Amino acid sequence: MPSPPLTGRIRVPGDKSISHRSLMFGALAVGRTRISGLLEGEDVLATAAAIRAMGVHIERDGDEWVVHGVGVGGLLQPDRALDMGNSGTSTRLLMGVIASHGITATFTGDASLSKRPMNRVIDPLSTMGASFTPSPGGTLPLTMEGMQPAVPITYRLPVASAQVKSAVLLAGLNTPGTTTVIEPVPTRDHTERMLRGFGAELTVEEADGERVIRIHSPAELRPCDIAVPGDPSSAAFFAVAASVVPGSDLVIENVGLNPTRDGIFRTLELMGADIEKLDEREVGGEPVADLHVKHSHLRGIEVDPAIAPSMIDEFPILFVAAAMAEGTTTTSGLEELRVKESDRLSAMATALQEVGVTLEETDDGLIIEGSHGEPLPGGGTIATHLDHRIAMSMAIAGLVSRKGVEIDSTEPIATSFPNFAALLATASS
Ligand code: S3P
Repeated sequence: MPSPPLTGRIRVPGDKSISHRSLMFGALAVGRTRISGLLEGEDVLATAAAIRAMGVHIERDGDEWVVHGVGVGGLLQPDRALDMGNSGTSTRLLMGVIASHGITATFTGDASLSKRPMNRVIDPLSTMGASFTPSPGGTLPLTMEGMQPAVPITYRLPVASAQVKSAVLLAGLNTPGTTTVIEPVPTRDHTERMLRGFGAELTVEEADGERVIRIHSPAELRPCDIAVPGDPSSAAFFAVAASVVPGSDLVIENVGLNPTRDGIFRTLELMGADIEKLDEREVGGEPVADLHVKHSHLRGIEVDPAIAPSMIDEFPILFVAAAMAEGTTTTSGLEELRVKESDRLSAMATALQEVGVTLEETDDGLIIEGSHGEPLPGGGTIATHLDHRIAMSMAIAGLVSRKGVEIDSTEPIATSFPNFAALLATASS
């Protein structure tokens, strides 16, 4: 049975990217960083545990988290393997941090993370002097030895990846001289914004559509008070749910709308979604608004691949919106989705076909025939492949499916959105 409308006001948890960085940069500052709104999801807790294992005291103080930073270069050698769970961001950013510390560390992860490519960070960090012993194919488990002092490099990103950019910049923090990253396609810029907020000497120049980011070392970071805005990637599930479930009228409060992250909302608007930004403001140096989303008749569109980096994690839920739209939605240029927590093109193609959606999977995208707003047939059991975003996307598809949707495991959801089911129940009650 299709769901009742989503109504009322909800607040999604803190931004995952900003939460990871708050802990890491707090650890590298000298003194006490206080963080409010930290996402307490498994991925972020994996970052906290790894930082603690490298000698940094982190405590929870009421609703806030406090990091007692040891300064750039101050991390200690961990005495056990760092278990990164499902989290690619924790792994790749910490590999960057460790690359310019004189310490050795071993990274392990779950079955999903252990398949993900690490050569994209191993390559530049090796050029800086770090050495790596990965598993075959450049995967985890992996042991690395940082270099002190490391060598500054100029690195042009071969893939549009904020994780790779951040890994090199973080290695550069403790590398004497100037480390430069050239970004042909802009990706999320939280590392740049936040490192500047922590007092790093970091410059960004735009030339011919490219971004040239330079970080200067020696660097001393000063501790900060950080308010983490709500995660647009989590809000996206509710924005799509409210757009496709008839009668919905929902306010999602405190959503981060950094222009390198808000592509999903711009794309939904192009499809005809009714999304109004209320009380636009700034939280923790990031643009934020409350989103008022009402049910609307979505239309299929051709999604411009240039928008992909600003909504790279939102394609699974966009595909659900496309399945409910009028007409065809075409996506392309999405080969990066094949190396996320799962192969998201293949996982979503299989999952949506299972619930009765007509689509074609290409090398780099999906072409989806919408239902013109009619409920999907539903039924079947969805394989989530340890991928939180597949699980949540298909739960939303379940709201508009006649027979409902069964998901093989909801456990992965706790990596990024522990209260997803509770919020969904609140909004649909
Ligand atoms: C992230 C960057 C993105 C994104 C991931 C978080 C980050 O990965 O998919 O969920 O916090 O830097 P890539 O940089 O590999 O695209």
